[in-house]
Amino acid sequence: MRRRPPQRRRRERGDYLVIPRGTVYRLLPHQPSRFLVIESVGEVGIPERGLLGRHALFDMDVLKVPTPEANMPEPRRTAWPLFVQRCGRHTRLTYPFNPIQTVGYKGDLTVWQLNVRDIRPVMSERYHLPPTAHATFVAANMVICTFLPRGLETGDPEALRVPFFHANIDYDEVLFYHDGDFFSRDGIKAGMVTFHPQGIHHGPHPKAVAGAQTRQRTNEQAVMIDTRNPLEVTAAGRAVCNPDYWASWKRPSTDRSAP
Ligand SMILES: [Fe+2]
Repeated sequence: MRRRPPQRRRRERGDYLVIPRGTVYRLLPHQPSRFLVIESVGEVGIPERGLLGRHALFDMDVLKVPTPEANMPEPRRTAWPLFVQRCGRHTRLTYPFNPIQTVGYKGDLTVWQLNVRDIRPVMSERYHLPPTAHATFVAANMVICTFLPRGLETGDPEALRVPFFHANIDYDEVLFYHDGDFFSRDGIKAGMVTFHPQGIHHGPHPKAVAGAQTRQRTNEQAVMIDTRNPLEVTAAGRAVCNPDYWASWKRPSTDRSAP
């Protein structure tokens, strides 16, 4: 007899939730929650897996389709608002009934979820794989990669162990640090976001380069969003930005004079 796998909660930390455009939805978290929200003008799909085969980097069997809560208590009301987003603005529609009394979801154009636990990153002992090897989703003009705990390049002392310095030519780059120890960045904590626009050089911090010589693994969980079109930082984003981020690349000997 096979042992029944442990029951997992319906939604939990580390879940990706893909909601196709045009889907009427409502989020009802059971507790105060924080989400990284990525909005795309195109459909979000799964990248070609190429030589790795269709079961990499996760098996399609791990994808889950959320089911509506049974017996969800609904407040008594006579008007139900529905907000349609277009060009960053919302139009309010009002229904005399609940417009999302959903029985269930079916088909391949539906809401689906994937937990980062079920993603099996690829690695090489002797070759530093580019970030695109960790692509989880693709959309028009955008790719979403997931960096997860994995072994470093320990098979050759000459092998590159940390990302190389680079300046993106075609893509803006956003990194969201979800959990763990971010080996290529110093002073980064979970919940932080970095933004590297096109043309701006960046790479691993000095401490990360030194530490990579002895480390065997990385324990990070991070999401990278590369966008073909330039991004603008909103006023809310500017209000919480660190203007001295550039100084984080200074070597320790010069850090004393850093602002
Ligand atoms: Fe980058």
